[in-house]
Amino acid sequence: MNQLVENISDTARWVAIFRAEESERPDAVFHDPFARSLAGEKGEQIANAIEFSRKNSWSFVARTYLIDEFVIQHVEQGYDMIVNLAAGLDARAYRMQLPKNLKWIDVDLPGMINYKNEILKNEKPKCDYRSIALDLADRKARFELFQQLNNECKKALVITEGLTIYLTAEQNAELATDLSSQHHFRRWVFDLVSPALLEMILKEMQPALEGSGALFQFAPEEGEEFFEKYGWKHIESKSKLKTAGKLNRLYDELKPFADMPEPPGPRRPFPWSGDCLLENVYSV
Ligand SMILES: C[S@@+](CC[C@H](N)C(=O)[O-])C[C@H]1O[C@@H](n2cnc3c(N)ncnc32)[C@H](O)[C@@H]1O
Repeated sequence: MNQLVENISDTARWVAIFRAEESERPDAVFHDPFARSLAGEKGEQIANAIEFSRKNSWSFVARTYLIDEFVIQHVEQGYDMIVNLAAGLDARAYRMQLPKNLKWIDVDLPGMINYKNEILKNEKPKCDYRSIALDLADRKARFELFQQLNNECKKALVITEGLTIYLTAEQNAELATDLSSQHHFRRWVFDLVSPALLEMILKEMQPALEGSGALFQFAPEEGEEFFEKYGWKHIESKSKLKTAGKLNRLYDELKPFADMPEPPGPRRPFPWSGDCLLENVYSV
């Protein structure tokens, strides 16, 4: 199993499988017709090998569903750019109904961008799409990119789906700072886990990532408030468990938990994961 997830980019294949499986259900809550070929056989092998993620595939379904909703909501509000950092095999620009003039920017490591572009080479994006190969760990290069994108838009929604958990607190703080310094990057959506859930994830899934360089590590005690120091105000967070319950994607033992009232954050002394929407306090 150790060899299966060879590097952080393989985690994109892994999550794409759950989008493929949801898309193939007769009652699918989203349709990603590209997910299976993007994930490839390797994606399927990884998903099958990590039992905990297969059992909890509802969390990936909820995450995709929620971020789709955030995208639709912001496009309807006139946002003119989506900046999708660590985009992986996300094919939203190809599968969602989007305005032709919406600028959609996918950013990921060169290997991932080249792989995705090759698979999707005969497909037509629904909007004004661009993919950018960049190592987001290169702070100078990413800052230049952020500045350039900021100049090209009036209001952007930034997405970092499945990224923050792999970064240290310091890296997340720097990313938050660099993003909020771009005043047209008005909103930011990402998924977050509570420390109690991180503990479960570490126990159940970290062994499968051994040797890949990917480490599950970010779950701030103070929840979304962590980002306040770096120019971001919390707008709303949506629980994946509640969402999956509403979508009828939970296995039986979890259903009663989804029906229970959920204490509000930002501090959550229980296993929790959700998608969080923040607003840039410097945005104009
Ligand atoms: C779990 S995947 C999430 C992919 C996608 N957002 C999704 O939800 O399906 C993590 C992604 O982060 C990307 N990534 C990790 N470190 C990166 C870096 N330094 N620069 C650019 N992308 C990075 C990986 O290549 C991978 O595609």
